[in-house]
Amino acid sequence: MAQYLVSLPALERNASILQGVAEASGARVVLALKAFSLWPTFPSLRPYLSGCCASGLWEARISHEHFQKETLTYSPAYPDAHLPELLEISSHLDFNSLSQWARFREDCLAHPRYLSGDLHFGIRINPRHSTGQTPLYDPCAPGSRLGITSEQLDGADMRGLSTLHFHTLCEQPYRDLESTMKAVDRDFGHLLASPQFTDLNLGGGHWITKPDYDRASLVNLLQRLQSTYQIRVWLEPGEALAIHTGVLRAHVLDLFESDGVQQAILDVSATCHMPDVLEMPYRPEVYLADQAPSASDESPRPAVTLAGESYLPADDSLAHRYRLGGPSCLAGDVIGDYSFPRPLAIGDCIVFDDMAHYTFVKSTMFNGVPHPDLAIQHHDGSVEVVRSFDSFDFASRLGPLPHLPS
Ligand SMILES: Cc1ncc(COP(=O)(O)O)c(C=O)c1O
Repeated sequence: MAQYLVSLPALERNASILQGVAEASGARVVLALKAFSLWPTFPSLRPYLSGCCASGLWEARISHEHFQKETLTYSPAYPDAHLPELLEISSHLDFNSLSQWARFREDCLAHPRYLSGDLHFGIRINPRHSTGQTPLYDPCAPGSRLGITSEQLDGADMRGLSTLHFHTLCEQPYRDLESTMKAVDRDFGHLLASPQFTDLNLGGGHWITKPDYDRASLVNLLQRLQSTYQIRVWLEPGEALAIHTGVLRAHVLDLFESDGVQQAILDVSATCHMPDVLEMPYRPEVYLADQAPSASDESPRPAVTLAGESYLPADDSLAHRYRLGGPSCLAGDVIGDYSFPRPLAIGDCIVFDDMAHYTFVKSTMFNGVPHPDLAIQHHDGSVEVVRSFDSFDFASRLGPLPHLPS
């Protein structure tokens, strides 16, 4: 069977780096569940982090039930039906637009948890400072639907809001946060300096656990923000926690040639199990798991030994080239062309690196966005809902099912 395999020691290594930043700076660091929500690992992560950030009700439930610390919820839009429970289980609830805030404000401000100081409300801002390379990942692109600009906030009724939240980075180094913060200081500094605003959330996309990330400057910036504005500062990284912590292990089902291309059909699919390969697009590192380390002699990169197996790196300079494809019907269900140090055989184990974040969640209900009902329209026009989904379906794709009474 194919398997996503996540390493607890690797997760804890990343988590302890994040904890180090939190302790050195006084900022709070939470895990972005949208990147990694494998809740059975949470007992190992809980000691290192302040909680989770959730993309809506289903992730908020995972945070509340399984992480049991702070839950910072933000969604581009909340359905009316989700608000009552979100008010019960979130510690921070951030809105994407002034229209959503106006829609829910009266209920929010009358809620006992708000009145007792256990619940805080915020608004996502758009500093309009693009630093990334890929438009698909740029919330500051012209016409963005994510966050509001300083002009839109001018003169708005902000009663009850106490958090400014931005998320503009994706796999980026410290200098991009620094330049973004300059834009935020310039356009929103007057709000941060006012006693109304008590929290600033810097979102995710900070590649803090990368060896060359400038963590000392990050700590300085976080300290400066807290002392200048007298606010709490939050970071909500996802990828930085789960990077280099998991692989997807697949197997060769068939081998044949087509128009001179050697095809290897695997028991995993780009479109079903690793959609970022098609969507981003992204080319994962690939290894051939082997019992015979000598086969790596040809390889320019050394084999890695893990749990008694040798992982032989695929490399374009090697002799045996294959197109790795999935078992779905999509013609483009192709992960890529990779070369190996020996001919592949049916049953060989092919290992895709770095599959614990985003890849994994995208195959298990991304962001916990509720799944549409399945319904049938009958001849008389009546509609029968034959299946609806709830957060139990989401959580049960990520961990064990509860034992039902026999
Ligand atoms: C609002 C918000 N916070 C946090 C994150 C986590 O980002 P990353 O996994 O890149 O650190 C995202 C990712 O899209 C996000 O949209």
